[in-house]
Amino acid sequence: MPEYNFIPLEFRERLPAEIAERAQDFFEIMRTRRSVREFSPASVPMQAIEFAVRTAGSAPSGANKQPWFFAVITDSEIKSKIRYAAEAEERINYGERFTQEWLEALKPLGTDEHKEFLESAPVLIVIFKQTSRIEQNRQRKNYYVNESVGLSMGLLISALHYAGLATLTYTPSSMKFLNKILERPSNETPVAIIPVGYPNEGATVPDISRKPIKEIMKVY
Ligand SMILES: Cc1cc2nc3c(=O)[nH]c(=O)nc-3n(C[C@H](O)[C@H](O)[C@H](O)COP(=O)(O)O)c2cc1C
Repeated sequence: MPEYNFIPLEFRERLPAEIAERAQDFFEIMRTRRSVREFSPASVPMQAIEFAVRTAGSAPSGANKQPWFFAVITDSEIKSKIRYAAEAEERINYGERFTQEWLEALKPLGTDEHKEFLESAPVLIVIFKQTSRIEQNRQRKNYYVNESVGLSMGLLISALHYAGLATLTYTPSSMKFLNKILERPSNETPVAIIPVGYPNEGATVPDISRKPIKEIMKVY
């Protein structure tokens, strides 16, 4: 019979006032995160990328299967291939695949089929979800894959923002071309491309607002 060990939890006790202050401090940092679509080509410290991916890899996951993989791209040739393939998909999306309702929803963001950021951002992180895994020579399904990968992506963009870098969550459906370009196996499905870098000087973002707390939270 295998033995399952338990270890002491690392947990720092804090006073309620300190907890409240830290929660507010974190909110003040995170409320300035925005999706950036205009990047400067200036390179970023790769150590920050690695730590952000480590943070993402620390996310909770269904049965701790950690069903994610992060492809980090700095090579300009690969970035160009990704842009070329993504823009081909986007021409179909904007031309015929998106419904009128979807196009209306996208209007405030000012997006179109041109995706220059895929070449100008110094780093692209492609997140893959692993729908299954091989265990003892058998293919087994992972659990709560979408929820787990979503959490991991949230930690990734939070860590990058906290570090001082800008990100975009970009999802050019379909994204299957990424498996081919990045030579990833068929049990992996791309979930998003996260361009990372510094915003271009004078970069602008859509003037949008957040739902008020009363609309998103109720204490029972
Ligand atoms: C799952 C997901 C997919 C997204 N896909 C795209 C995308 O394909 N292109 C894009 O420009 N922005 C995309 N976004 C960014 C959203 O448009 C953006 O988060 C939203 O408008 C709120 O703006 P903010 O991130 O600046 O707060 C995506 C965001 C999420 C969470």
